[in-house]
Amino acid sequence: MTDVPADSLLGALRGAKTSDELIQDAMHEMPYGIYVIGSAGESGPNAMIADWVMQLSFNPRLVGAAFETDSTNLANIKKNRALSINLLDETSIELARKFLQPTSGAKIQGRSDDAAALRHDKLAGVDYQLNSHGCPILDRALAWIEAEAEQFYEVGDHVLVVAHVREARLEGGGDPLTSTFTGWSYSG
Ligand SMILES: Cc1cc2nc3c(=O)[nH]c(=O)nc-3n(C[C@H](O)[C@H](O)[C@H](O)COP(=O)(O)O)c2cc1C
Repeated sequence: MTDVPADSLLGALRGAKTSDELIQDAMHEMPYGIYVIGSAGESGPNAMIADWVMQLSFNPRLVGAAFETDSTNLANIKKNRALSINLLDETSIELARKFLQPTSGAKIQGRSDDAAALRHDKLAGVDYQLNSHGCPILDRALAWIEAEAEQFYEVGDHVLVVAHVREARLEGGGDPLTSTFTGWSYSG
Protein backbone atom coordinates (compact mmCIF):
# COMPACT_ATOMS: atom_id res chain seq x y z
CA MET A 1 0.00 0.00 0.00
CA THR A 2 1.29 3.51 -0.87
CA ASP A 3 1.82 5.90 2.00
CA VAL A 4 -0.48 8.95 1.63
CA PRO A 5 0.37 11.92 3.89
CA ALA A 6 -2.39 12.40 6.46
CA ASP A 7 -2.82 16.09 5.54
CA SER A 8 -3.50 15.44 1.85
CA LEU A 9 -5.84 12.55 2.68
CA LEU A 10 -7.77 14.86 5.01
CA GLY A 11 -7.61 17.58 2.31
CA ALA A 12 -9.19 15.28 -0.25
CA LEU A 13 -11.97 14.40 2.18
CA ARG A 14 -12.63 18.07 2.99
CA GLY A 15 -12.57 19.29 -0.63
CA ALA A 16 -8.80 19.69 -1.11
CA LYS A 17 -8.27 22.46 1.47
CA THR A 18 -5.28 22.06 3.75
CA SER A 19 -5.66 22.39 7.47
CA ASP A 20 -4.02 25.84 7.31
CA GLU A 21 -6.44 27.02 4.60
CA LEU A 22 -9.36 25.90 6.74
CA ILE A 23 -7.91 27.87 9.67
CA GLN A 24 -7.54 30.91 7.37
CA ASP A 25 -11.18 30.64 6.26
CA ALA A 26 -12.34 30.70 9.86
CA MET A 27 -9.99 33.52 10.92
CA HIS A 28 -11.01 35.70 7.95
CA GLU A 29 -14.40 36.02 9.65
CA MET A 30 -12.94 37.81 12.70
CA PRO A 31 -14.25 41.41 12.62
CA TYR A 32 -11.93 44.34 13.41
CA GLY A 33 -11.95 48.10 13.73
CA ILE A 34 -9.96 49.99 11.10
CA TYR A 35 -7.55 52.30 12.93
CA VAL A 36 -4.94 54.79 11.77
CA ILE A 37 -1.99 54.50 14.13
CA GLY A 38 0.31 57.51 14.16
CA SER A 39 3.89 57.91 15.35
CA ALA A 40 6.66 60.50 15.38
CA GLY A 41 9.81 59.80 13.37
CA GLU A 42 13.06 61.72 12.98
CA SER A 43 11.93 62.94 9.57
CA GLY A 44 8.38 63.73 10.72
CA PRO A 45 5.11 62.04 11.57
CA ASN A 46 4.00 58.72 10.06
CA ALA A 47 0.77 56.73 10.12
CA MET A 48 -0.51 53.31 9.10
CA ILE A 49 -3.71 51.29 8.86
CA ALA A 50 -4.00 48.71 11.62
CA ASP A 51 -6.68 46.15 12.50
CA TRP A 52 -4.99 44.40 15.35
CA VAL A 53 -5.73 46.96 18.06
CA MET A 54 -7.61 46.29 21.28
CA GLN A 55 -8.31 47.52 24.79
CA LEU A 56 -6.41 45.39 27.30
CA SER A 57 -7.12 46.79 30.78
CA PHE A 58 -9.49 49.28 32.50
CA ASN A 59 -7.19 50.15 35.36
CA PRO A 60 -4.64 51.15 34.30
CA ARG A 61 -6.10 51.90 30.89
CA LEU A 62 -4.00 49.85 28.53
CA VAL A 63 -4.34 49.22 24.81
CA GLY A 64 -2.44 46.76 22.64
CA ALA A 65 -1.50 46.83 18.98
CA ALA A 66 0.41 44.21 16.99
CA PHE A 67 2.95 45.48 14.44
CA GLU A 68 4.86 43.79 11.63
CA THR A 69 8.50 43.64 12.71
CA ASP A 70 9.68 45.86 9.82
CA SER A 71 7.03 48.55 10.30
CA THR A 72 8.38 52.11 10.22
CA ASN A 73 5.79 53.07 12.84
CA LEU A 74 7.03 50.34 15.17
CA ALA A 75 10.61 51.64 14.79
CA ASN A 76 9.40 55.15 15.67
CA ILE A 77 7.43 53.92 18.70
CA LYS A 78 10.41 51.90 19.96
CA LYS A 79 12.51 55.08 19.85
CA ASN A 80 10.21 57.55 21.59
CA ARG A 81 7.37 55.41 23.05
CA ALA A 82 4.64 57.69 21.64
CA LEU A 83 1.70 56.64 19.49
CA SER A 84 -1.70 57.96 18.48
CA ILE A 85 -4.67 55.80 17.52
CA ASN A 86 -7.25 57.44 15.25
CA LEU A 87 -10.71 55.94 14.83
CA LEU A 88 -12.49 56.89 11.61
CA ASP A 89 -16.16 56.80 10.76
CA GLU A 90 -17.79 55.05 7.84
CA THR A 91 -17.74 58.20 5.66
CA SER A 92 -13.92 58.20 5.81
CA ILE A 93 -13.12 55.09 3.77
CA GLU A 94 -11.31 57.15 1.07
CA LEU A 95 -9.22 58.80 3.78
CA ALA A 96 -8.36 55.37 5.22
CA ARG A 97 -7.24 54.19 1.75
CA LYS A 98 -4.42 56.79 1.84
CA PHE A 99 -2.76 54.80 4.63
CA LEU A 100 -2.68 51.41 2.90
CA GLN A 101 0.77 51.88 1.30
CA PRO A 102 3.86 51.15 3.40
CA THR A 103 6.33 54.00 3.98
CA SER A 104 9.11 51.99 2.41
CA GLY A 105 8.57 50.84 -1.17
CA ALA A 106 10.85 47.88 -0.42
CA LYS A 107 8.10 46.35 1.74
CA ILE A 108 6.16 45.38 -1.38
CA GLN A 109 7.70 42.31 -2.98
CA GLY A 110 8.50 42.29 -6.68
CA ARG A 111 9.00 46.06 -7.04
CA SER A 112 11.85 47.38 -9.22
CA ASP A 113 14.91 48.77 -7.42
CA ASP A 114 13.76 52.34 -8.14
CA ALA A 115 10.24 51.71 -6.81
CA ALA A 116 11.64 49.88 -3.78
CA ALA A 117 13.82 52.89 -2.90
CA LEU A 118 10.82 55.24 -2.81
CA ARG A 119 9.50 56.58 0.51
CA HIS A 120 5.75 57.07 0.53
CA ASP A 121 4.41 60.00 2.59
CA LYS A 122 1.00 58.69 3.64
CA LEU A 123 0.09 61.96 5.36
CA ALA A 124 0.58 64.13 2.24
CA GLY A 125 -2.68 65.96 1.53
CA VAL A 126 -4.28 64.78 4.78
CA ASP A 127 -5.50 67.32 7.37
CA TYR A 128 -4.07 66.62 10.81
CA GLN A 129 -2.56 68.23 13.89
CA LEU A 130 0.47 67.00 15.78
CA ASN A 131 0.00 66.25 19.48
CA SER A 132 2.62 67.27 22.03
CA HIS A 133 4.64 64.11 21.20
CA GLY A 134 4.64 64.75 17.45
CA CYS A 135 2.05 62.05 16.61
CA PRO A 136 -0.65 62.86 14.04
CA ILE A 137 -4.25 63.35 15.14
CA LEU A 138 -6.44 63.37 12.03
CA ASP A 139 -8.90 66.27 11.69
CA ARG A 140 -11.58 63.80 10.56
CA ALA A 141 -11.01 61.34 13.42
CA LEU A 142 -14.22 60.10 15.01
CA ALA A 143 -12.14 59.65 18.17
CA TRP A 144 -8.47 59.64 19.01
CA ILE A 145 -6.27 58.09 21.68
CA GLU A 146 -2.84 59.26 22.78
CA ALA A 147 -0.80 56.49 24.38
CA GLU A 148 2.64 55.76 25.77
CA ALA A 149 4.19 52.41 24.85
CA GLU A 150 5.29 50.55 27.97
CA GLN A 151 5.92 46.95 26.92
CA PHE A 152 7.03 45.23 23.72
CA TYR A 153 6.48 41.49 23.19
CA GLU A 154 7.66 39.44 20.24
CA VAL A 155 4.59 37.42 19.29
CA GLY A 156 5.38 35.19 16.31
CA ASP A 157 5.84 37.41 13.25
CA HIS A 158 4.48 40.55 14.98
CA VAL A 159 5.48 42.70 17.95
CA LEU A 160 2.72 43.40 20.47
CA VAL A 161 3.00 46.91 21.89
CA VAL A 162 1.22 47.45 25.21
CA ALA A 163 0.55 51.14 25.74
CA HIS A 164 -0.87 53.29 28.53
CA VAL A 165 -3.71 55.59 27.41
CA ARG A 166 -2.77 59.13 28.45
CA GLU A 167 -5.52 61.14 26.68
CA ALA A 168 -8.47 60.40 24.42
CA ARG A 169 -11.42 62.27 22.91
CA LEU A 170 -14.58 61.44 21.06
CA GLU A 171 -14.81 64.14 18.37
CA GLY A 172 -17.77 63.18 16.22
CA GLY A 173 -20.77 60.96 15.71
CA GLY A 174 -21.40 58.19 13.20
CA ASP A 175 -20.46 54.55 13.11
CA PRO A 176 -16.81 53.56 13.42
CA LEU A 177 -15.11 52.17 10.32
CA THR A 178 -14.73 48.39 10.57
CA SER A 179 -13.45 45.53 8.44
CA THR A 180 -17.05 44.37 8.04
CA PHE A 181 -17.84 47.70 6.34
CA THR A 182 -14.67 48.00 4.19
CA GLY A 183 -14.32 44.31 3.36
CA TRP A 184 -10.53 44.76 3.81
CA SER A 185 -8.86 41.77 5.32
CA TYR A 186 -5.75 41.51 7.49
CA SER A 187 -6.28 38.05 8.90
CA GLY A 188 -6.21 34.40 8.10
C1 LIG B 1 -6.88 46.42 6.49
C2 LIG B 1 -5.44 46.40 6.93
C3 LIG B 1 -5.13 46.18 8.26
C4 LIG B 1 -3.80 46.13 8.69
N1 LIG B 1 -3.53 45.89 10.02
C5 LIG B 1 -2.24 45.85 10.41
C6 LIG B 1 -1.92 45.62 11.77
O1 LIG B 1 -2.79 45.44 12.63
N2 LIG B 1 -0.60 45.59 12.12
C7 LIG B 1 0.39 45.80 11.18
O2 LIG B 1 1.56 45.78 11.53
N3 LIG B 1 0.11 46.02 9.90
C8 LIG B 1 -1.18 46.07 9.50
N4 LIG B 1 -1.47 46.30 8.19
C9 LIG B 1 -0.36 46.52 7.28
C10 LIG B 1 0.23 47.89 7.45
O3 LIG B 1 -0.75 48.91 7.27
C11 LIG B 1 1.35 48.09 6.45
O4 LIG B 1 2.33 47.11 6.62
C12 LIG B 1 1.95 49.45 6.56
O5 LIG B 1 2.61 49.61 5.36
C13 LIG B 1 2.93 49.69 7.67
O6 LIG B 1 3.35 51.01 7.53
P1 LIG B 1 4.76 51.53 8.02
O7 LIG B 1 5.80 50.64 7.41
O8 LIG B 1 4.81 52.94 7.53
O9 LIG B 1 4.77 51.43 9.50
C14 LIG B 1 -2.77 46.33 7.75
C15 LIG B 1 -3.08 46.57 6.41
C16 LIG B 1 -4.39 46.60 6.00
C17 LIG B 1 -4.69 46.83 4.56
